Parts: sequence; C-alpha cells; structure tokens
Amino acid sequence: MATITLAETPKLQEVFGDQFRIGAAVNPITIHTQRELLAHHFNSITAENEMKFESVHPEEDRYTFETADRLIDFAAEHGMAVRGHTLVWHNQTPSWVFETADGRPCDAQTLLSRMRSHIETVAGRYKGQIYAWDVVNEAVSDKEGELLRPSRWLDIAGEDFIAKAFEYAHAADPNALLFYNDYNESDPRKRERIYTLVKGLKERDVPIHGIGLQAHWSVAHPALEDIRSAIERYASLGVKLHVTELDVSLFSFDDRRTDLTAPPEELLERQAERYEQFFRLFREYSGVIDSVTFWGAADDYTWLDGFPVRGRKNWPFPFDTQHDPKPAYWQILNAARR
Ligand code: GLA
Repeated sequence: MATITLAETPKLQEVFGDQFRIGAAVNPITIHTQRELLAHHFNSITAENEMKFESVHPEEDRYTFETADRLIDFAAEHGMAVRGHTLVWHNQTPSWVFETADGRPCDAQTLLSRMRSHIETVAGRYKGQIYAWDVVNEAVSDKEGELLRPSRWLDIAGEDFIAKAFEYAHAADPNALLFYNDYNESDPRKRERIYTLVKGLKERDVPIHGIGLQAHWSVAHPALEDIRSAIERYASLGVKLHVTELDVSLFSFDDRRTDLTAPPEELLERQAERYEQFFRLFREYSGVIDSVTFWGAADDYTWLDGFPVRGRKNWPFPFDTQHDPKPAYWQILNAARR
C-alpha cells in the first residue's frame, strides 16, 4: 500500500470543525511520542490521569500541579481546548479525603469542606484555561433498583454530594461548562438512571450544563439504536452532550481471547464500519454534541492494553501503532460526506 504522510491526511479537527471539537486524552509521555499526530488532528485534550484527585492533591495540605500544568502548556502551544477530568470520583481519590487523622471515617461536614477546597483550588487554578469540567464521574450504579453507586462520598455525605460538587465548581469558575460523566451510558437501563439523576439536578437548579458519554464501546456493543436513544433522551433535558472517552475495542467485554498478535483485517473493517456509523450519528446530533474526545489517539498507547484481559493488546483507535491511518480513519472521513 502506498504510504501517505501525515501532512497529506485531512485533519479530523478541520473535517469536523463546523460540527464539534475533536479531542484526545493525553499524558506526559504521549504529548511527546504522539506530538505530531496530536497537533495535526486534534483541537482539544483531556488529561488521562493528571488532573484526578490523587494526582493533584495527594495530601490535605499539598497540591502537585507540575504535570497537569505541562499538559495545559501543551494545549496552549497548539491552540487546543482543554476538558478538565475529573473533580469528584470514587476512584483514584486518596483515603485521607474520607478519614480523620486516626483513620476513622470523617463526618459529612469535613468531607464537604475538603471537597470544596479541592474544587476551589483546582478549578480556580485553571479558570479560563479549562472550558469544561467533568465535575462528577461515574456516580450512577450499574445495578437495577439502585440509583447511585455505593461509595465513600455517598456513605459519608449522602446523595447531596453530587449537587454540592456542581455548586462548588460553578462558584470556582462561573464560565466553565459543568458535566456529569459516565460509562455504559447507552445501556437503556443505566441511561434511565443517569437521566433521573440529571433531571433531578436540573429541577433543583443545580448548575449542570452537560452529560459526558464516555463511549468505551466495541466492535459489538452497544447497538447503534441504543446510542441514538441515549443521545435523544439526554438531549431532552436541554443539556449539552460531549463524547468524552471514545474508543472502539476489537473485543466485546466478555470476549477473553488472547491469541492475537496483530489485528485481523476483518476486525479492523468491522471497527471501521462502527466508527463510520458513530460519526454519522454524532454529525446528525451535532446540534447538541459539541465535542468528541477519544481516550487516546493511536494504538501504540491505550489503557485497554491489559484491560480487562491481562497481557492482551488492543487496537481501539483510528491510527495504528506507527500513527498511520487505519481503515477506521478513512471511514470516519466518509462519515463527513453526505
Ligand atoms: C474511566 C475514567 C477515566 C479512565 C478510564 C480508564 O472511564 O473516567 O478517567 O480512568 O476509566 O482508563
């Protein structure tokens, strides 16, 4: 196959420039190893881990912003927007947040005042540089009959912790767009729980502006019609939608095969078809979707290497391990045509 240089490939950020931003999750390594690819195709970034609670606030009186700042500088250098990820989550949050000095659970008031100073400091620091924040990540349960996932936030502060997080974020940066972000967002049952949560927040005038659809999808799931229904249901709340963590695994979640050392052509074709369908859908709903972020950029680095099957490589992006366009890239371009 004739090789095509990066400069000759249409930039995703331009191809979809009238519809939505095209983002990538980055980290301190990929801003170097994927620098040219990122600069060419993407006009938005999200920090993969570097703005999470445990990264920026490891101890009560100590904030560590060096790495996050480097990602902000990278974005500024390339004229990219930044989505902030994430202020309140049950994972990657240090234990001190929930505990007294002697290791017992702290009380609600202490937890909420820690949450407030965390949000004020982090969202305050990047005021004007981060235009949208994932304020609360993954608070909704995956179980039928349970609205919120059990967590230390919920145990100690009660369900109001969610509204409080949005209020504090709004106070810290009144111009930032504030999102609730979750996975399995297109599953019809979880979709209804997310809808119920956000509807309740809106009814109480909590400052929430959008729902983030993580979109960790695969060649098999979810069904396109379920994604469409989720988009419509969420949009009916009058909020913006961002696709926040898009990747398309070559394996469905319960597929445990470990035999592949390279991606088979037929799976790459299937992945390309799926990407085309997704981008057609995103275009169709570009009135409500104004950002589409991949959870990475190219197959040389993905969190799906080793998850959920240890030691197994995955190839979830439109660019291969050498950063060359895959069939998925070309079919995403098709989606931009009528
Ligand atoms: C979730 C989180 C992300 C990231 C992925 C796995 O989707 O929102 O921050 O941790 O899991 O990489």
